[in-house]
Amino acid sequence: MILLVKTFSLDDKTVINLAQNFDTVLEAVAFGSPLNFLPFLRFLPKFKRSLASLKKAVHIIHDLQKKLINECQESMSSIKTDVPSNLIHAFLLQMSGSPEYIYNHDQLHYLLFDIYIAFTETTKTSFGWILMYLAQYEEVQNKIRQELLEVVQDKTIEMDDFVNLHYTKAVIAEVVRIRTVAPLGVPQWVSENVCVEGFTFVKDTMIMPLLWGIHMDPKVYKEPEEFRPERFLDDDGKFFKPESFLPFQTGKRICIGEEIVKMMAFIFVVIVVKNFKLALPDFASIDFTGVSKASLSPKPQKIMFKKI
Ligand code: HEM
Repeated sequence: MILLVKTFSLDDKTVINLAQNFDTVLEAVAFGSPLNFLPFLRFLPKFKRSLASLKKAVHIIHDLQKKLINECQESMSSIKTDVPSNLIHAFLLQMSGSPEYIYNHDQLHYLLFDIYIAFTETTKTSFGWILMYLAQYEEVQNKIRQELLEVVQDKTIEMDDFVNLHYTKAVIAEVVRIRTVAPLGVPQWVSENVCVEGFTFVKDTMIMPLLWGIHMDPKVYKEPEEFRPERFLDDDGKFFKPESFLPFQTGKRICIGEEIVKMMAFIFVVIVVKNFKLALPDFASIDFTGVSKASLSPKPQKIMFKKI
């Protein structure tokens, strides 16, 4: 885990508890939820309940984060060093001698919260979709294996190989396009009146960039509902990124995790496809509709991993 640079076991109670409570939060703050647009709904029993469970989950997460911070503080007092070994450590070191209004315990909690949602949830979601599309399309797995054979041959794969694995990159891009992890993007706030291409955006307006609409626009992506990695390959079979491919949004606030997640997805796909044949159990079919939370998450699905 990046926050503590420590690996937790799969049955670690703190991690399970964190994951469950973050799930509650993500469901409650789903961008598509009517509560975001009609705040008065909070007085109705259904939404009142959802807000109450959100508050409860946030409290539990806060307590669990406190535990992780305390653990880190204890290890800091035994090994005195100015070289941070993880994110919490770096923040705590920065706290001493920095303005209190920037570096304080509240901010540290918000930071940990943001990192979990921005990092863990998006990565988990996109990897889930990758597995589903690979399981559904056996020919796509075969093409990736073929590309690995041609490009990497029998040497150990390295990050530098990513540049030449055009089809593999196209598969990852196509998954992130067809199942845009953040379909409504991340809301932005207009700080002053501004006119863009004839449209006036009034100060204090909330903007929700409909990334799903861009990725599913038939004028830009022919037959957008079709899973077709080749649309990201040029005539020479090289990967290219269309201007309208915006899973990480664009501009000054573009996702800071883009490069990390691309590397992780690459490693993930290569390891899975090299070692396993993915398939669906007999008579099973995949439901690609997903569930709308803060991200568009895949529904639980049984997939068979056959060792190669
Ligand atoms: C498939 C995975 C991911 C997707 C689809 C994704 C998508 C996005 C989007 C759409 C935004 C909004 C950008 C904007 O407001 O203009 C964003 C922001 C952000 N992302 Fe990601 N993200 C992913 C993975 C990650 C990872 C792995 C990290 C961790 C390093 C991360 C950290 C952040 C942060 C900190 C922001 C806020 C940036 C800011 O407001 O300045 N994301 N992401």
